[in-house]
Amino acid sequence: MAKIVLGMVASHGPLLGTPPELWAGRVQADHQNPALCFRGKEYTFPELLAARSNENFEPDLAIEVKKRRFEATQNAIKEMARVFHEVKPDVAIVIGNDQMEIMSDDNQPMIMIYHGERFENVPFNEEQLKRLGPGVAIAEPNHHPPRRETYPGQPDLALHLIESMISEDFDIATSARLPEQMESKLTGIPHAWGFFYRRVMEDRVVPNVPIFLNTFYPPNRPSVKRCLDIGGAVARAVESWDKDLRVAIMGSGGMSHFVVDEPFDRAFMKAFVAPTYDEMLAFPDNMFRSGTAELKCWIPVKSAMDRTSLKMTVVDYQPLIRSPAGTGSGMGFAYWR
Ligand SMILES: [Fe+2]
Repeated sequence: MAKIVLGMVASHGPLLGTPPELWAGRVQADHQNPALCFRGKEYTFPELLAARSNENFEPDLAIEVKKRRFEATQNAIKEMARVFHEVKPDVAIVIGNDQMEIMSDDNQPMIMIYHGERFENVPFNEEQLKRLGPGVAIAEPNHHPPRRETYPGQPDLALHLIESMISEDFDIATSARLPEQMESKLTGIPHAWGFFYRRVMEDRVVPNVPIFLNTFYPPNRPSVKRCLDIGGAVARAVESWDKDLRVAIMGSGGMSHFVVDEPFDRAFMKAFVAPTYDEMLAFPDNMFRSGTAELKCWIPVKSAMDRTSLKMTVVDYQPLIRSPAGTGSGMGFAYWR
């Protein structure tokens, strides 16, 4: 029977692939964003600056602080890669979210399991690079390889997951071919997964099942409770898979962004390591909006790992703050082995 041997969660934001001297590129995007989400409300950049004026982000913006935090994230990613290669799982399940890359609002499933034989990771072409938001292109190597690559899926596990979860009353959308978004003309696996293939697996991509969770876009985002349930069901499916293979379960995204909320990130991490789900279930759902909602890709990994005897290690948390309004990304990394 299959065995869960590794769990991993990691942030994947573009600042992880951008030297601090160039973070100003993303500040331009913050200024253009009319709906910066912070604690359930939306702000323009000047409004957010005013609302957070008492928080004093000046010390966070010193170049040596930014460099120290960035270095720490790079070391954390290296540590995640080291653990991945040391554990050497045969198969992975990677939970992530699409950000209107290959899905669009013509069809947005809440939970989708990919069951194709293989799939591609496709670098952006010149025209697509030009259309990216400010400051994103530089971080592209974090997600996409220099040339189009084909990765192995794991249809046997994927079909077993689909069947097993449907038998537990989950309504699962499925895909045997990644959709192509007509407007963006993007193809291939989105950035949430690309980060794990490029930076954690370091291009030595094991056969894997991408699970898409629509954490980002209303009106059909899964609740925290649903994400906990999904993790349990995924773990039960792995345990009942009749292959003698070692399986990793991974969640990609978060923590708070594009507005960094360090107290929330720390509260989330505390709930994440807690032995019960009470603290996790007590977060109001409107804390999980915009990029911060990607933390819902971490939650199934927690509930899956809680069914195993694997031990959790929090590798690091770093608030990468890029502007006086506290915009940026909270970056967190943890594993179970
Ligand atoms: Fe993302």
